[in-house]
Amino acid sequence: MPTSLPRLLVTRKLPADVEARLARSYDADTNPTDAVLTADELVARAEGKDALLVTPADRVNAALIVRLPASIRVIASFSVGYDHIDVKAADARGIPVTNTPDVLTDATADIALLLILGAARGAAAGMAAIRDNTWKNWAPTGMLSTDIKGKRLGILGMGRIGQAVAHRARAFGMTIHYHNRKRLDAAEEQGAHFHATADELFAASDVLSVHCASTPETRLLVNARTLALLPRGAIVINTARGDIVDDEALISALQGGHLRAIGLDVYANEPNIDPRYRTLENAFLLPHLGSATLETRNAMGFRALDNLDDFFAGREPRDRVKG
Ligand code: DGY
Repeated sequence: MPTSLPRLLVTRKLPADVEARLARSYDADTNPTDAVLTADELVARAEGKDALLVTPADRVNAALIVRLPASIRVIASFSVGYDHIDVKAADARGIPVTNTPDVLTDATADIALLLILGAARGAAAGMAAIRDNTWKNWAPTGMLSTDIKGKRLGILGMGRIGQAVAHRARAFGMTIHYHNRKRLDAAEEQGAHFHATADELFAASDVLSVHCASTPETRLLVNARTLALLPRGAIVINTARGDIVDDEALISALQGGHLRAIGLDVYANEPNIDPRYRTLENAFLLPHLGSATLETRNAMGFRALDNLDDFFAGREPRDRVKG
């Protein structure tokens, strides 16, 4: 039956409450199988739609954007990061793009703390000993790790998530160092030490935690040269984007003993991660779980729909991003 509701292509299965709200306000073509659409499938299913609701698993690059039907007027992403969308190419076609900031800050900061603790305390090796039944007994010198209390946490990118990580890490007795485009008075009032360059931050970090967006400037910022600036025995954590880190350099710094441990939630080419990561016992690894709580995923979905509601009501969407 014809409907006057805006027609929306939703590329992935969304939490039930989000899909329920979606069904009330949109004529939505949803994806109950949850399989990632190929570029051809996405373009074909976008035919006759007014909007796309996409996720970081969709590659909405310039080549795809030029193929979108003229009916597409807005793209809402179910994510805070939008490096999977070529915003400039969308702008060029007059298609605004929105994201979902704020609502996943706490969940992602929690995962960063989990990785900091897990990497520092040798959780991956400990879990493997239980799983493989190789744990012999309690031993005074068995599986020794290191405290995080008193260690310097270097936060690369002091946005919302970086600040939320700093807040948590202070409670564990870490001292906070950061590098950010802008100096932040509020962070410094809480005792955080600013470093004017990323290099200076690396040199001052026992634990380096990556929280910047993936941009042409930050891609491969964590590389062989910058890793060598970290003190021997440092730990590297990444909950931002995989392509900020050079896998080759990270794995070789870990295997060579320059790094004590790593904790990763994000990877280049997800889900096809460099297979060597699976073999490293001092790598505490998660499959991009930063925002993966039901509460947070509901909030992300509602925020994405708020943006679409704004657009279709003729208002500027609150989370429109700039290319
Ligand atoms: C985002 O929203 O960008 C996150 O990476 C999803 O967890």
